Amino acid sequence: MNTGAPSFLIALETSEIGALIRQSAWIYPTANIAHVLAIVLFAGAIAVMDVRMMGGMAGSDPARVVRSARSMAVVALIGVLLTGAVLFTAEASHVALNGIFQMKMALIAFGIVHALFVGNRAVRALDALGPQAPMPGFARFAGALSMLTWLGVVGLGRYIAYN
Ligand code: HEM
Repeated sequence: MNTGAPSFLIALETSEIGALIRQSAWIYPTANIAHVLAIVLFAGAIAVMDVRMMGGMAGSDPARVVRSARSMAVVALIGVLLTGAVLFTAEASHVALNGIFQMKMALIAFGIVHALFVGNRAVRALDALGPQAPMPGFARFAGALSMLTWLGVVGLGRYIAYN
């Protein structure tokens, strides 16, 4: 435990649920594996969505591809957030003060805001486009920024262990 951490983090980590996650032989490893599996699904959906927005997979209906991939990304993201919360609870006082973890959380917040505002607008612009239509610059930009953001989150997530 990091005694210098804010008291609500210490309370979370030392709660019954925090102790249960740490003491159990299987809860933390299972949540960790599930976190990675949900990330794999999330990354797959994001890749399809963003590559289509950047003009790849021309020949497919852009709005249908992007909307389907988005739905899958939302479901996978919920899995990532829930499993991440389990990992976080077990070591809240340490990990919350880790600068890389803080950068990861800030980038996740940015990614969600970007998806809700910029991404939503870009997807609406695709509705009028047929399969071979060139992607508007705005959609290409939104796709590239989304891809960079989520790759950054994955990289930072892995890097926490070394910081
Ligand atoms: C799209 C969102 C997210 C992505 C892409 C992501 C990615 C990652 C990755 C790649 C790892 C390393 C896994 C490993 O090497 O075993 C990781 C670990 C972790 N993640 Fe996430 N994560 C996300 C969201 C979250 C959230 C919302 C939380 C907390 C509420 C969280 C908490 C953690 C914790 C505590 C670890 C273990 C860190 C350590 O001790 O090394 N993650 N994440």
